Amino acid sequence: MAFNRIVVGLQWGDEGKAKVVDVLASEAEIVVRFQGGANAGHTVVIGDIKYVFHLVPTGLLYPHKLGVIGGGMVVDLPGLLEEAQALESNGPAILNRLFISERTHLIMKYHKLWDEYEDERKGIGTTKRGIGPAYTDKIARKGIRAIDFCYPNHFRTLVTAHLQEKNELFTRIYGKPAVALKDVLEPYESIRNLLAPRITNTAVLLEKFQKEGKSILFEGAQGSLLDIDWGTYPFVTSSNSTVCGIPGSIGLGLRMIDEVIGVTKAYTTRVGNGPFPTELFGELADLIRGTGHNIGDEFGATTGRPRRCGWLDLVALKHSIRMNGVNKLAITKLDVLDKLPEIKVCVKYLYKDKELEHFPAADYILSECKPVYRTYPGWQCPTRGLTNQKDLPPGARNYINMIIEELGVPVQMVSTGPCRQDQLTFS
Ligand code: GDP
Ligand code: IMO
Ligand code: MG
Repeated sequence: MAFNRIVVGLQWGDEGKAKVVDVLASEAEIVVRFQGGANAGHTVVIGDIKYVFHLVPTGLLYPHKLGVIGGGMVVDLPGLLEEAQALESNGPAILNRLFISERTHLIMKYHKLWDEYEDERKGIGTTKRGIGPAYTDKIARKGIRAIDFCYPNHFRTLVTAHLQEKNELFTRIYGKPAVALKDVLEPYESIRNLLAPRITNTAVLLEKFQKEGKSILFEGAQGSLLDIDWGTYPFVTSSNSTVCGIPGSIGLGLRMIDEVIGVTKAYTTRVGNGPFPTELFGELADLIRGTGHNIGDEFGATTGRPRRCGWLDLVALKHSIRMNGVNKLAITKLDVLDKLPEIKVCVKYLYKDKELEHFPAADYILSECKPVYRTYPGWQCPTRGLTNQKDLPPGARNYINMIIEELGVPVQMVSTGPCRQDQLTFS
């Protein structure tokens, strides 16, 4: 029987979604990315090898799974090919199992430059992958889509017209150099033969798979607090990084989802700017972040930036669980707390001496919220690599049970290390 699941991040991204997707992909035939683009950095560790995915759906490490790039994504096609080929050099063939929606919007060289110039002014701290500008063009009805790439003359005409407009913007508004047409077009000429056959009507394809009883796993990127509508606007990404991103991207209606798995770390991180009420500084933050020398240390998988670290925030998690309709939780990176003598958890906010139980809508309110903490004793013994719930120290078990009770959602999986096998089923 087909069973369709979504894995979605409940914090500001990097929750360990790929680790969870990699485990659950063994039970699905198709893995679908539905929003965002190469701003995602999804890490899977198998044995000694670390794989980082940006656009390729994570489940494709399994040799017989199929992958879909949904129409709601924004994709840098040359980057996608490079990523697929790099993965192929270390593992199974990827490209022949990948299907790209013809409605996917393309990220062109000028989108990445625009992202850079705009972020210099706005200070969101984007990944500079051209995400915001590509979605800006999409909404302004000026985007170029994967289908256009399959029709070379049409593609050239569109790119020429758009580049003229972008060059005016770059030279007049940003005081930057113009971009040459050939520099934009050339990377696409050499990849057309390889990628055009992968571009198709993915809604029809997924409908066929559904009729065949195949299970689909939807791989969320970013996190719910980065969602364009429900996140910490304007310090967000430019797509719906919640389950809301699925229907628009996939084109199969609303009825096909059986389970929504929300992923949270046992604490919180954020990369890029914007409010973060439970943020820690100094020694404790450094301890959680790690040095960057070990897999799993808190440094961005896409940009290498050190991640901001803080305590678990139940106010934010309740907001994310509501907006996604989460019915199972996966808790990752429990092992990172192993050495701490005490662990704090934010249960509400104080805003100008007023108690707030719900996540506020404005960044200028959130940035003035003071977290109200409850303190729990640490377990101070290793959970790293545990695969059986009964081996968890009582302190760690209590911590997980507290999260279940506070959030009202059962925990399905607890991750105890970066490797595929470092995880246990919790019940
Ligand atoms: P994603 O974007 O949500 O897929 O997460 P990232 O891959 O960006 O970041 C998660 C990081 O934590 C990666 O380096 C993973 O290898 C690592 N990781 C995942 N789960 C665990 C865990 O349970 N323990 C530890 N120590 N590391 C983990
Ligand atoms: P994964 O899928 C963490 C953040 C950026 C910035 C903001 C806007 O690995 O969890 P963008 O380039 O999207 O316009 O940047 O969003 N951001 C992420 N943070 N994980 C991600 O993806 C992210 N993708 C974007 O740091 O603050
Ligand atoms: Mg990541």
